[in-house]
Amino acid sequence: MSTYTTAWKSPSNIALVKYWGKKPNATQIPSNASISFTLNNCATSTQLTYEEQESLEISVLLEGENEPSFVPKIEQFLKRISGVFPFVLRGKYTINTSNSFPHSSGIASSASGMSALALCICDIAMEKGLLTEDKFKETASELARLGSGSASRSIYGPMGEWGEHPDFAGSSDNFAIPYSDVADVFKDYCDTILLVHKGQKTVSSTVGHGLIDDNPYAPARFTQAQDNMTKLNAILKSGDLDAFITLVESEALTLHSLMMSSNPYFILMKPETLQVLEAIWAKREKDGVKWCFTLDAGANVHFLYPQADKAAAQAFIEEELAQYCENGAYIHDEVGAGAEKVI
Ligand code: PMV
Repeated sequence: MSTYTTAWKSPSNIALVKYWGKKPNATQIPSNASISFTLNNCATSTQLTYEEQESLEISVLLEGENEPSFVPKIEQFLKRISGVFPFVLRGKYTINTSNSFPHSSGIASSASGMSALALCICDIAMEKGLLTEDKFKETASELARLGSGSASRSIYGPMGEWGEHPDFAGSSDNFAIPYSDVADVFKDYCDTILLVHKGQKTVSSTVGHGLIDDNPYAPARFTQAQDNMTKLNAILKSGDLDAFITLVESEALTLHSLMMSSNPYFILMKPETLQVLEAIWAKREKDGVKWCFTLDAGANVHFLYPQADKAAAQAFIEEELAQYCENGAYIHDEVGAGAEKVI
């Protein structure tokens, strides 16, 4: 083999129990286990052509336009994964990538982007006889993790679990595992991403993870997250939506409270973020709906509701929540099946 072309489409994901903090002196090993809904509509499609050669050469097109700013990040990724596949540092890469969501939406593309790239690399490794089908997804998840921790979970739908935990058989700090034994209501759960603030985050998640090391609340947080994994495991199987809401919202606010108690401290939420949360709480109080939110490391709100409530929840977004979004923008998404091979 001298030249090989492959393409994968890989989705974004939204964590319910959050990964925030890495173990020191290790490469992307999480301080606690995490679990996420795999999304369906927010995805990155990446086509990669690899030509064998002695040196490393990378060119990247984003939405068809040359994007040299992506090259250093991809080079760093290839160096990290060269421990698994040394061949990756000897080759010419032509990468053509596009996101289904707007580039400037403030939605992180690292989970979808890194997982799509990892899957393409695994295809080349298969072609070279360095990987077998039975280890394909596990290895792709491991490589994706080395690019961006949360990317490890995007390989699988409807949910992915990453990080060693006694209640999740086969779980590992090195790669995510699929998680699908859930009540029907969660298999097609809806997530509308309310784009409160589309700009760049003031503090990247890489920096944020690093700040946890000096956070006095960190040890208690890691214990809490492991306990929440046990609780959520039971909730996902029973379909208890009240318990789901309480746990998921608490996880989101805990993530942001860790940011506020870091040194230096920082806040990624915007005033409109809080207005959305209050509007959701008021609606729940008034009408008894089972709708809730979670947050990523940013100002945008992931509004979560069951598929059966789709029409009513989307009317509520239009009538009450859209006013807090930048230019009224939001993206409807729902739980999806995970990454898929395009060619
Ligand atoms: O994968 P990273 O390093 O971008 O970290 C993601 C962290 C959160 O999105 C806040 C939580 C998570 O588990 O996805």
